[in-house]
Amino acid sequence: MTDAPPATMRAIEITPPGGPEVLKVARRPVPQPAAGEVLVKVQAAGVNRPDVMQRTGSYPPPPGVTDIPGLEIAGTVVALGDGSIQTRIHKVAGNAACTSAEETRRFLIGAAKDWIDKTIAESGAPDSKYGGIVVWDESLSVGIKKMDKQHQELVKIINCLVENEDASGRSEPIAQVLDRMTQYAVYHFETEEALMREYEYPDYESHRDDHTQFKMRTAKFCLDALQGKETLPDELLSYLRDWLTHHILKADMKYKVYFLERGVL
Ligand SMILES: [Fe+2]
Ligand SMILES: [Fe+2]
Repeated sequence: MTDAPPATMRAIEITPPGGPEVLKVARRPVPQPAAGEVLVKVQAAGVNRPDVMQRTGSYPPPPGVTDIPGLEIAGTVVALGDGSIQTRIHKVAGNAACTSAEETRRFLIGAAKDWIDKTIAESGAPDSKYGGIVVWDESLSVGIKKMDKQHQELVKIINCLVENEDASGRSEPIAQVLDRMTQYAVYHFETEEALMREYEYPDYESHRDDHTQFKMRTAKFCLDALQGKETLPDELLSYLRDWLTHHILKADMKYKVYFLERGVL
């Protein structure tokens, strides 16, 4: 981190959405790292599913996030923002006794992940902004803390399917993630349905039917995955994303006022 970064850089831009031919090299100002950020001189960028979806126009970048594709990068840190990850790692690393480069690497990755997890927990937001395709925001809140928390967990698991990685970054077989998601969804549906029965929610039966349909459809996806269809089909991801956002935004949102009027928080 000795030389000052240049004023401009080369970047790949997505001109109107479409095929690979819409990717164009352009010049952009070099960004300044804000508090908690680092500036990286990129040596290599990974292109993954959300990048491709962004290129085709089906996944606009969330507000406040760069439109430059390449959600995963490798390179050299050339500048630090205030309170950046690296600053924090240096503080933690001072207490560690690392005896090899590999041990140090593992320690630093662990410290960075711990810090990110802690920041996510403190902000109360799920980590979908780190590359998933379902982005949680207040429009998805049903006004009941417990339900919002469970919905956020479902969003997180669906984003794991997109990245095919679990929270610690390891690859996880699709059948395993699907199984985890199905189990969590069943637990969430039971919680919602119990609340509806307790407060005699008038649309209980049709809501329960929606849940049943979801369970049957995901059971079929699980079966497909176990039978060796290990690719992540677009059909599965768009089904999960659409079901989740539409169910929360329509069916779940319907109970918001009903429960709030009865003092359920
Ligand atoms: Fe729900
Ligand atoms: Fe629901």
